[in-house]
Amino acid sequence: MIPVSLLFIVLVALTACDHSERLPKTARTDSASTAVFTPPDTSLIPKDDVGSMIRYGRELLVNTPHYLGPNGSVGRYAGNLLACTNCHLDAGTRPYGLSLMSSHARYPQYRMREARILSLAERVNNCIERPLNGKPMPLDSKEMNAILMYMKWLATGVPTDGRLPGDNLGPITYPDRMADPARGKHVYDQHCQRCHGIDGEGILDPDGKKYTYPPLWGPNSYQPGSSMHRVIKSAQFIKYNMPHGLAAWNSPVLTDEEAFDVAAYINSDELHQRPVVPKDAPNYPIVKQRPVDFYMGPFADPYPNEQHKYGPFKPIIEWRKANGHPTGL
Ligand code: HEC
Ligand code: HEC
Repeated sequence: MIPVSLLFIVLVALTACDHSERLPKTARTDSASTAVFTPPDTSLIPKDDVGSMIRYGRELLVNTPHYLGPNGSVGRYAGNLLACTNCHLDAGTRPYGLSLMSSHARYPQYRMREARILSLAERVNNCIERPLNGKPMPLDSKEMNAILMYMKWLATGVPTDGRLPGDNLGPITYPDRMADPARGKHVYDQHCQRCHGIDGEGILDPDGKKYTYPPLWGPNSYQPGSSMHRVIKSAQFIKYNMPHGLAAWNSPVLTDEEAFDVAAYINSDELHQRPVVPKDAPNYPIVKQRPVDFYMGPFADPYPNEQHKYGPFKPIIEWRKANGHPTGL
């Protein structure tokens, strides 16, 4: 029989240990920040029923199309074969790889796109509807709960409204000129095309059921207005993570300008088609809350639509700050 006091000490030690697991590790070469969180060790997921749900949630993020895709075994929610982990790298645990480490600690949260407070489950559905071009999952489904349990596990020890260093996306310097899709095509041909395809169509696994290399535009890619369609967010993601296998948070391959140009090329609506956004999809009903880099007006600031899409972004950001309008960045 273990004395209660000893159990308490063990528990405190475990909690402390869990905390230190996530403490920043120092960069070898410094590109942006000097330290980021250490990705959690999945072997520490408990070996009980709760742990099974956490593991199932992780599995849903990694093998999304198998369960939730157009021929999904659980339900046909996603309209394409993208997996969450194609963008939320390493199932949401890669520093600056759209990590989801603190999400559970930051929701419910006011969202400008809907102009109301969203639960984390509703936010998950946003990604199923837009990047995955699909239909919302029932909020109380086993699958939604599993995804939430996994994100809750990721956020262990993160304070309410807190972030970990290296969370979400990394910093980038905005060029003083428009991002240029023509220059971006050169970057694409040199650094991206061999995996993502000549026409951005990606490459499916031999069994055709998920992507080895996901598409970047076309009917099987994310919808316009998805956050990945925003040139700033896309450039931030690309800078620290692409070309895949070469770039990392502490060793980017592209310059900031190249990341912006290639993000402009991929996300150009003149050059590339995407799935059609449903008419009733919410798109920032309060006009001044529309993000600086949203693809579609009207805007409450005096800058033209094209500048919102491709920049230069600094004047818009400065105007918004001076006038008390949010930037959405
Ligand atoms: C095409 C890329 C892409 C795919 C695929 C994708 N997401 Fe996202 N997701 C994003 C981007 C970009 C954001 C916005 C990050 C930001 O606002 O900085 C985001 C945001 C989120 C957030 C909010 C994070 C936060 O802390 O605010 C959650 C939760 C989320 N995604 C879950 C999912 C899940 C679950 C899936 C799979 C069902 C998925 N996403 C698929 C690109 C994607
Ligand atoms: C070696 C192959 C490879 C190269 C080269 C590469 N990527 Fe990727 N890319 C991937 C893989 C694989 C994923 C999905 C990652 C995962 O599932 O873990 C991905 C994901 C992405 C995503 C998010 C998913 C989506 O569908 O939107 C974007 C955006 C992206 N890459 C852009 C680029 C850009 C821009 C370049 C060139 C600068 C590039 N990639 C070069 C393999 C590659």
